[in-house]
Amino acid sequence: MALTLSFGTCSYGPNALAGLTDVAGRRLHKMQIPRKIHSINLCTRKRGYGAVCESASPRDSLGTVEVENYSTFVRFLHLASPYVVGHRNKRFVIMIPGEVMVDKERLRGILDDILLLHGLGCKLVLVAGSRELVDAELSQELTEDPNSNEGRMVGGYRVSGTATMNVVLGENGAAVNQISAMLSKGPPIPMMRRHEKRETGNVEGFKSISTVKVVSGNFVAAKRRGVVHGIDFGWSGSVSHVHVEAIQSQLNDGNIVLLTCLGISSIGELLNCSVYDVAAKTAIELSADKFICFTGKEVRDLNLPHYLPLEEAKMQIASGTLGSCSNIVPYSSRDEGEREAVSRIEPLLGGSMFDLDHWSDLNMPFEVIAGISVCNNGISRSHLVDFQEEGALLLEMYSRDGISGVCMIASDIYQGIRPARIDDINQISQLLDSFLNYGYDLPFDMTDVGSNLDRLMVLERDGDVLACAVYSVLGHGFDDKLVVEINALIVSEAHRNNGFGDSILDYIEQDMRRKNVGLIVLVPNTGSCDWFVDRGFEYQGLANQNPILPEERRKNCEGFAKLYSKSIVAIDSSLADLPAGRRIGF
Ligand SMILES: CC(C)(COP(=O)(O)OP(=O)(O)OC[C@H]1O[C@@H](n2cnc3c(N)ncnc32)[C@H](O)[C@@H]1OP(=O)(O)O)[C@@H](O)C(=O)NCCC(=O)NCCS
Repeated sequence: MALTLSFGTCSYGPNALAGLTDVAGRRLHKMQIPRKIHSINLCTRKRGYGAVCESASPRDSLGTVEVENYSTFVRFLHLASPYVVGHRNKRFVIMIPGEVMVDKERLRGILDDILLLHGLGCKLVLVAGSRELVDAELSQELTEDPNSNEGRMVGGYRVSGTATMNVVLGENGAAVNQISAMLSKGPPIPMMRRHEKRETGNVEGFKSISTVKVVSGNFVAAKRRGVVHGIDFGWSGSVSHVHVEAIQSQLNDGNIVLLTCLGISSIGELLNCSVYDVAAKTAIELSADKFICFTGKEVRDLNLPHYLPLEEAKMQIASGTLGSCSNIVPYSSRDEGEREAVSRIEPLLGGSMFDLDHWSDLNMPFEVIAGISVCNNGISRSHLVDFQEEGALLLEMYSRDGISGVCMIASDIYQGIRPARIDDINQISQLLDSFLNYGYDLPFDMTDVGSNLDRLMVLERDGDVLACAVYSVLGHGFDDKLVVEINALIVSEAHRNNGFGDSILDYIEQDMRRKNVGLIVLVPNTGSCDWFVDRGFEYQGLANQNPILPEERRKNCEGFAKLYSKSIVAIDSSLADLPAGRRIGF
């Protein structure tokens, strides 16, 4: 039996074979592997050898969309399309901890979703953990010997002597095989038959579409931990750096890069690193666009909010209130003592090397600390995705609101958009003045800005108001939708074309959703609404004849005034606590 090697630049050697199973799912002993095997083709699913997956996921079925669901399906595609475009060619580092690796059924579903992400053009680096698998495999005598630390977690690291390291190597080899096999799934055969032709000749029929290539290799450089506080950590190590160019070149070739917790020292030894260390370091050094971490029970029990601005996450970690604090208090409103506490934990979350002993001291799940650390080191968003939530990864990536069970930690959210305050009046007046100079109208007198603050939204940076919007609640239209009119949206001339207009409009839309507004309208007396049309507003004809406007407003429209509108989809009640502004951009 001849098989071909498809590990790419894999350097695990024979240990990778440790993950082989026979068709009954029994782990194969080295001696059972035929001598003639040069290597293993992970894509081969013939009887006998190969990573056998126990049961089929419901996603395997050749699902068709029922007629009554057509419009939902089409609508979903349209809603998802901006996110598909926005995420294309973006680099995501996705961590799959050992807890997920144990649950093969969920792992399969998650990898199906990851395959879809790859198919939609995202460049993916997966980092697979094995802690729970190693725990289960380590012999009891080893871990129960009170005189030995062998195999135990001490602080953030596992003491890895020879016996432990053998288990670690075996489990990581198994993880690579298992994931590579599950990712080798091709599209459903009847679909290929319908749409593909053989490359040679004109014979129509089945042509195998090449599967995704999963590449593992010597991408992670590590150094030994050595002896710490009298404990020899053996082959335990920490990541010193990641070979970014090599990873990038694999991503450019359309491959998925698969890393494990194994790093390689400068003298060619395999070292047992923490998967959190590998994943966070990779995300940071690769300057990934996102860090996505699947999480389990520990994080679920924290009941994290759907969205945590980075500063708030650090504040809650520093004060030990993470998960018990439902109100997000802006960093600027925190007192000196609280800010001081954050500056004390800052060094634990950054620097060129992570010290996982310090992470342990924070007494929080490592997934959360890793998520915060990567954001603290320049990655704009971390998503902590509960692995038990079916489809959560896709909903998080391709819908505006995401899904409950996911916490997004973000460093890029524009926190400067907020309702106007009294101290903004002067700057708002200047902006509105220039707006009136364009020939536009306002629903209130300029001397009256102060008493109209509740209908004003501003975008502020370092104390300067760079943009503002005025809106009016018009009441309910003919189909009982609550209608809001945007009366003005203006960005200061010096700051145009920086996306500020987009951000403030996006914020208004999110805010209105939370206030159960069904329709946002524009009734301009002058100029064009092209900018808004590009952002989903539709022309509805003349305003004074249009029943979608509440009657009061219709009566006050000039005969020539045009009406534009944008429907606002109701928000899922489980996400209604999200503050507006959470998801501006991608
Ligand atoms: C319209 C306005 C709010 C846009 O704000 P902004 O922060 O510059 O906009 P963004 O950076 O989000 O978007 C810039 C894009 O909008 C386009 N754009 C700017 N003004 C536009 C207009 N009047 N019509 C169509 N497109 C316009 C830019 O060309 C740019 O396009 P690009 O992304 O393809 O390069 C701003 O130009 C403004 O304040 N104008 C004066 C007041 C006004 O006309 N308000 C709208 C009526 S209420």
